[in-house]
Amino acid sequence: MAETGTFVLATTNPNKAREIREIFAVCDPGTELVDRPPGVGEIEETEDTFLGNARLKARALVEATGLPAIAEDTGIEVEALAGAPGVRSARYAGEPSNEEANVDKLLAELGPRVGPEQRRARFVTVAVAMWPDGREASAEGTVEGWIAGERRGRGGFGYDPVFVPNGYAQSFSELAETEKNRISHRGLAWARLAGWLRDQR
Ligand code: IMP
Repeated sequence: MAETGTFVLATTNPNKAREIREIFAVCDPGTELVDRPPGVGEIEETEDTFLGNARLKARALVEATGLPAIAEDTGIEVEALAGAPGVRSARYAGEPSNEEANVDKLLAELGPRVGPEQRRARFVTVAVAMWPDGREASAEGTVEGWIAGERRGRGGFGYDPVFVPNGYAQSFSELAETEKNRISHRGLAWARLAGWLRDQR
C-alpha cells in the first residue's frame, strides 16, 4: 500500500508546525508536509472528544485542498475535576481564548487540594491523518503529571507553567524545550502517527 505523499498541516500555530515537521523528519522523512493555505477560515471545535475535533480540522483541510491532511487536538484533563478542562482547554475561562485566565481558573478550581495525588493531570494529544477518499488513521499521546499550586518558570505556553510531569521536579515551563518535546503528549502522538505512516510503505 502506498501511503507516501503530501499532507497539508491543519495547524496555524508556527511552533506546532515546526515541532511536527521535526518529528516527521526523523520518523517519516518520506512524507512531505505543506502549510495550510491562506483563506481557510477558522474551524470550530464542536465535538466532545479530542478525536472528533481533530477529525473536524483534518476534514476541513481535505475539503479545502483536495489533498490528504493531518490535524491534532490537545487538552489537559484533571482527575479531581472529572477530566476538565478536557476538550474545552483553550476556552476554559471563556471566549476569546485567554491562556492566563485559563491557568487562573484551573488553580482556583483545584482550590485547597494539596500535592501530586490530589492534583493528578494528564495532557492528551490525538493526531489524525485523513485522505480525500475518506480513509483515516489516528494516534494518541499522553503525559501524566500533576498541577502545581502556583506557576513555575517562564518557558512554554498554555498550561506549561503549572504542569509537572511525573518523574520530574520541574514544570513543563522550566524544562528545556527539547526535553519537553521528547516526553510530551504532542511529541508522542505525532511520532506514533508518523511511524505508522512510514510502516505502511
Ligand atoms: P490546542 O488544541 O493545541 O490549541 O490546545 C488547546 C489548549 O491546550 C490551549 O489552551 C493550549 O494552550 C493548551 N495546550 C496545548 N498543548 C499544550 C502544551 O504542550 N502545553 C501547555 N498547554 C498546551
